[in-house]
Amino acid sequence: MVNPHEQSQNLLKRALKVIPLGAQTFSKSITQYPLGISPHFATHARGSKIWDVDGNEYIDFVNALAAVTLGYGDPDVIRAVQDQMERGSLFSLSHPLEIDVAEALVEMVPCAEMVRFGKNGSDVTTAAVRLSRAFTQRDHVALCGYHGWQDWSIGTTARRKGVPEPVSRLSHPFNYNDLDSLHHLFNSYPDQIAAVILEPMSIEFPRDGFLQGVRDLCNRHKSVMIFDEVVTGFRLARGGAQELFGVTPDLACFGKGMANGFPLSAIVGREELMRLLEEVFFSFTFGGDVLSLAAARATLKKVRNEPVVEELERRGRVVMEGAQRLLQQFKMEQYISLSGHPSWSFLRFHSIEAVDEWEMKTLFLQEVFARGVLTIGTHNMSYAHTQGDLDRLLAVYAEVFSVIAEAVRSNGVAKRLRCEALKPLFKLRG
Ligand SMILES: Cc1ncc(COP(=O)(O)O)c(C=O)c1O
Repeated sequence: MVNPHEQSQNLLKRALKVIPLGAQTFSKSITQYPLGISPHFATHARGSKIWDVDGNEYIDFVNALAAVTLGYGDPDVIRAVQDQMERGSLFSLSHPLEIDVAEALVEMVPCAEMVRFGKNGSDVTTAAVRLSRAFTQRDHVALCGYHGWQDWSIGTTARRKGVPEPVSRLSHPFNYNDLDSLHHLFNSYPDQIAAVILEPMSIEFPRDGFLQGVRDLCNRHKSVMIFDEVVTGFRLARGGAQELFGVTPDLACFGKGMANGFPLSAIVGREELMRLLEEVFFSFTFGGDVLSLAAARATLKKVRNEPVVEELERRGRVVMEGAQRLLQQFKMEQYISLSGHPSWSFLRFHSIEAVDEWEMKTLFLQEVFARGVLTIGTHNMSYAHTQGDLDRLLAVYAEVFSVIAEAVRSNGVAKRLRCEALKPLFKLRG
């Protein structure tokens, strides 16, 4: 049988000799793309499609880990970057584009009065935490979910090798939609919590009053409220999840889709706090990279002027409703559930008795990749997805859920795998 991933596997062998895990991002590595059945290397992407080094074409529902919202190679963004490239990408002085994009964010995002830029989401979540510590003169942080690779964030997870214990001890996880768990932290560390940082939404919608409850607790305990909108920003609503849910944090962090695949992130917030960044150190060589800023200006313009967020939601709803119908049809709802916002929804796999979630997820990946769909269990919708893409995804799901249902019923999930199952190493969410 011909191996549809031969070139990918050859490249991976080379990569693994010189690049730990063979990838730059954990979620693009062999920990998420099982060896033997996955594409590992891309050659190019356009619109909603991506091509791997073996020439296979996929409809992409990963979209560069939600960094691409308009679609790959959006013509307006590319034109803006090309025009800028003619004039230079980084200078010895600041550039007016920094002001243009900062002003756009101030107009769009409810909590934004001032803005600073970073490159990765981790840059700005870390800046927000440092800023909050400086502002409150406290050290402890309450957090909820994944906020990037830095010590204060990753130190609370299973992947914390190399993080000093004293740093981990200052970070305290609480549960989403569970105000009591946050209340408990405030009681355990009275007058010591500098900031509460959370994604306003990830796999679940906020329960009535939850986000406002966090706001009230932060007010009562004089802690800074930070929304990590690295994914939700410019996806759930033009002004981010804070606009959608009507709760305004003190600081917010954006990244991912704000420049449609170009590296840019931003910390925004109330002037009283943000002014302290004149003293708190947050400074790096590529902070004013103008190509990414040109991409952001074009991206934000499109998000403001076209029904981007409405379409992400509408198309995502088609996916969620269609997938839910199929899960019912194949009586798979207890093994695979759907959650999240339509613009960013999740398939969640559940272990039940002899059925293992990781084996089931691996079988799912094996079968979708073989049918030209790239997803790692999420549907990160883009403005470039067409109705044809959605129809194709649901047709593929009809086949794949049928394969999984049959495997589950005959107790044969592992037998159908042509690779080793993914290992339960580290889940960013759920
Ligand atoms: C909610 C959230 N915050 C922060 C980050 C970190 O962003 P980056 O990987 O760009 O540093 C991520 C990345 O996945 C994220 O999903």
